[in-house]
Amino acid sequence: MTSSLSRRSFLGGLAAASAAAASKEARARAFAPIGAAPRRPVVIASANGWWDEPERGSAVATTMRALLDPETAERPYGLLEAIVEGVGVTESDARDHSVGLGGLPNEDGVVQLDASCMFGPNHRAGAVGALENVRHAARVAMNVLRYTDHSFLVGKGAYEFARAFGMPHEELLTEEARKIWLYWRQSHSAKDDWFTPPDAEVDPDVLDRFTTGTIHLSAVDARGDVASVTTTSGLSFKIPGRVGDSPIVGAGMFCDNDIGGAGATGRGEEAIANCGAFSIVDEMGRDVEPTEACLNVLKRVARHAERRGFWKDGRPDFQLKFYAVRKDGAYGSACMLEGGAFAVMTGEDESPRHEECAFLYEKR
Ligand code: GLY
Repeated sequence: MTSSLSRRSFLGGLAAASAAAASKEARARAFAPIGAAPRRPVVIASANGWWDEPERGSAVATTMRALLDPETAERPYGLLEAIVEGVGVTESDARDHSVGLGGLPNEDGVVQLDASCMFGPNHRAGAVGALENVRHAARVAMNVLRYTDHSFLVGKGAYEFARAFGMPHEELLTEEARKIWLYWRQSHSAKDDWFTPPDAEVDPDVLDRFTTGTIHLSAVDARGDVASVTTTSGLSFKIPGRVGDSPIVGAGMFCDNDIGGAGATGRGEEAIANCGAFSIVDEMGRDVEPTEACLNVLKRVARHAERRGFWKDGRPDFQLKFYAVRKDGAYGSACMLEGGAFAVMTGEDESPRHEECAFLYEKR
């Protein structure tokens, strides 16, 4: 694909004006010629894959460390184990209220986790939905992939399956998450029997906290094998039993070992209705650069959002972020509304960093 052709298609369509404002760096990468990819391995994740706070650990750095260990490549599922170990850092980070321990609960105050993973070399997938009391949902999804003929376990079955592998039963609702949930319970409606507590009684840290956050991570190893994982506590205060995009193969994550991997964070219902991650990989399979592939699928999501009724003031009323890595190591990310970042580390880097996502709609 020539650079002028890519540019024309990028500028065409729904949100040309604001897309043109995408950060210079992201645009440069979107149109980088094939062959200019960074050195593998490459690990890309949502922004919570790395914080500039060493005590929190880093999913991206943990994955990269494992991928640089020669023993990882010798184990049949070494790449998959590396990405699952990586996101396990975030699943254990109680300060991240979108994943694992400390995740915000459903409307009943119960933490229900969703996760899925996919391993390029054998194109197998594993997933769990509405999993309770086991923090490492991604590991449970990996065990579904590795040790069963199934792809997706939910609820009590997923929990019993995790326990069969010796994974500990834990209360995942931390004290801080419980306070955030209680304040939401007390304040979200004037038509129930709860009184909203006076401001003076409320810790400002628990006011109006809400997340559709999640961690997605995709990696391509030195050989060019690809794997993807997404793990989450899902939409805050969701209806019990609600499952988002994260455990839906093709929505919250997808990879194809001949092409690359992709994933989503943000409003899961949109990633589901548009087969988000699959569509990005499919675009990359037709020689579309990773950032442009993410933007193309966001344009499709935006087109459908109006019809779906999630549209306000001439734009979608939600955030959705996509991440993509191609088999050769080229990577990119884009979000619906300006202001997103992603975490990345390549074989050329000493440490992970954040980069800005390209975007469809400018901040107002
Ligand atoms: N993307 C996370 C969720 O909607 O559950």
